[in-house]
Amino acid sequence: MPSVDVNTILAVVATLLFLALIGYFAFLIRHQEEVEPSTEKPTYGVELLEQHYAPSSTVEQPTPYYVAPIPASPDPLEIASNLDKKVVLGGALLFALFAMIGAYFAIQPTIRANAEEDQMRINIDYGKELFAQYCYDCHGRDGKAGKTPDGKTLPGLPLNKPDFKYANIKSDPTKVHDTQTLITNTITRGRPFTPPRYSMPAWGNSDGGPLSAWQVMELEDLIMYGTDQDWADIVTIRQQKGQPVAEQIPSPPAVQSGADVAKTVCTVCHTFDAGANSPNPLAPNLNNYVSRGPFNDQLKALKASGDPDWLVKWITNPPSVKPGTAMPPYGSAAGGPLSEATIRSIISDVLLKGQ
Ligand code: HEC
Ligand code: HEC
Repeated sequence: MPSVDVNTILAVVATLLFLALIGYFAFLIRHQEEVEPSTEKPTYGVELLEQHYAPSSTVEQPTPYYVAPIPASPDPLEIASNLDKKVVLGGALLFALFAMIGAYFAIQPTIRANAEEDQMRINIDYGKELFAQYCYDCHGRDGKAGKTPDGKTLPGLPLNKPDFKYANIKSDPTKVHDTQTLITNTITRGRPFTPPRYSMPAWGNSDGGPLSAWQVMELEDLIMYGTDQDWADIVTIRQQKGQPVAEQIPSPPAVQSGADVAKTVCTVCHTFDAGANSPNPLAPNLNNYVSRGPFNDQLKALKASGDPDWLVKWITNPPSVKPGTAMPPYGSAAGGPLSEATIRSIISDVLLKGQ
């Protein structure tokens, strides 16, 4: 990294120069004091005139109110102490310092670009290690997902693909930004699906996963800036670590019972425990709903209309039953995360159990 050395050299020389400049002025002050000892009594008035004029010479005074300036004479002290050379040397040092500062600003962009490149290389290298450890089994040895060489379908999506590569999208800053956001957010927060569909797990520390924000960025750098060689290196990393080259595809997540889903999904807002308060004060306690519900007028009316799917409709898309309600849609038909089968099992296993 020669560029960093230039920077260091420049910084050291500039510092030395600055110290030299201060030292030099200190010397000047001392030296000047030595050649003009301050103990010497200053000369004024008549004495001064006597130093410059012979007893017989005259000082012209055009009016009584005007005192003619005493003609300058070469000051022997000034000559003796080489003041002019000192001034030139001091000036030269000062300009050298300015030149250093100028040079520093001139080479800064290059230094920064090189540092960024070095940092990017390091990030990609760490990204490969992380991919080999955490992502390989679902996104594939080359990051292209699809099928394994022995024909098994991988659960993940392709990450090593043209659309994600910075080089292909750099002309469109919005696309670069959106791609970065998509990759970072998906890795950090995951993307949940209802079993048996595979979910993308959440990996970020902020979402209970093992990876720091910096490590997520390293993976993002691998995905956006990694070369074909980088992706090819990942198999080597697995081999060197003694891990199998063949993807160890995790078994699909088990289908959860309606009760399990209710316990994880619905309890974000509701409680099912008798007498307890719901985490979300707007969401009613759903304990013993079969005899206590429905609560709101719109749902009561829907049930009274004899519609057998009154509760399915509510959970699938509450705002379609009661516009403006604070409960969001849960059915996949309305963009929610739950299949109709899951909703029906929540209803039969939990809400209308025993009916
Ligand atoms: C258990 C399998 C699994 C593992 C392990 C896994 N993923 Fe995923 N990943 C998925 C699934 C499933 C999806 C989303 C599929 C979908 O949206 O249909 C996904 C989606 C993604 C996406 C979004 C892709 C897109 O085009 O929207 C990114 C980025 C991603 N994963 C990165 C990673 C990284 C990085 C790791 C390792 C830290 C990782 N994944 C580990 C299964 C996995
Ligand atoms: C984001 C918070 C939230 C989540 C999560 C949530 N609900 Fe609700 N739910 C509400 C609110 C708020 C109401 C009150 C709606 C109203 O009357 O406006 C409600 C009402 C209900 C009602 C009663 C409607 C009535 O008036 O009789 C049922 C039943 C219900 N939710 C079922 C569920 C089920 C099942 C789940 C899980 C799949 C769930 N909710 C998840 C917020 C939530």
